[in-house]
Amino acid sequence: MKKISIIGAGRVGESTAHNLARAELCNEVMLIDIVEGMPQGAALDIQESAPQFGFDTKLSGSNDLHAMAGSDIVIITAGLPRKPGMSRSDVLDTNLDIIRSIVDVMVKAVPEAMVLMVTNPVDILTYAAWKRSGWPRNRVFGMAGVLDSSRMASFVALETGFAVKDITAMVLGGHGDTMVPMTRFTCVNGIPISHFLTREKIDKIVQRTRGGGAEILALKKNSSAYNAPAAAIAAMVSAISHDRKRILPCVAVLDGEYGQQDICMGVPVVLGRGGMERIIELKLNEEEAANFKNSVAAVRADITAV
Ligand code: LAC
Repeated sequence: MKKISIIGAGRVGESTAHNLARAELCNEVMLIDIVEGMPQGAALDIQESAPQFGFDTKLSGSNDLHAMAGSDIVIITAGLPRKPGMSRSDVLDTNLDIIRSIVDVMVKAVPEAMVLMVTNPVDILTYAAWKRSGWPRNRVFGMAGVLDSSRMASFVALETGFAVKDITAMVLGGHGDTMVPMTRFTCVNGIPISHFLTREKIDKIVQRTRGGGAEILALKKNSSAYNAPAAAIAAMVSAISHDRKRILPCVAVLDGEYGQQDICMGVPVVLGRGGMERIIELKLNEEEAANFKNSVAAVRADITAV
């Protein structure tokens, strides 16, 4: 890939820039933020780490959204972060305005690009970006499920003591308290976790996963998580830039899948050079279907604001 732009040079944006550069996922990373000097400084700082890590990706910063021109992917992390006690939906109105102004520049500056939404509430803002851009859904998707699954896999590793490398977890639904950790599809080298953990322990992991973002925020107080989110973004970008056809849970526009239409939800998708190439429709059991429906209702309640 030639160029990737990251809108929002806060902690998630900056950490993402570093991850993309270190993995040489593109030739050029452009960091854009409205705060003067901030994206430029962050880009330069990362650039100066290149001799240590040995990457040739070039980084630059700008305060002008039009600097995204020439990008293959635009990653949006800009927006008001939530404070302890706030839900992801509490920042909706402000972030909706910010996302609309970014999308309006995007459709003109990079009409063929893909957009990866990260700003919260991510399901709603992915939907807003899709509506506003008029782009096909394969080029508009969001990051949540990879992060939530990464948290779940970490908790399984901590609880069982097994190598994190062997653990795969899957979290579907909206990126909020109603998310749906899929314990049936969470395995240690293919062996379902129910083989190793009691129902009680699994329930605890499910609850901790649902509150994973809030747990970090409550501890740090003035910052949300950014290391795991930025790692999740890099995993998605890597799947696209290498055309890996990875199956990852992502925020996608549903068009009949899972019985839903005109909504964005976390579902397993195939990520490759075409972006969100395909949605994998799983047969949900009764409990999973009820939880998914509950999550759909929560997302729909916020979508009315778009
Ligand atoms: C989290 C916030 C960023 O899950 O949504 O950490």
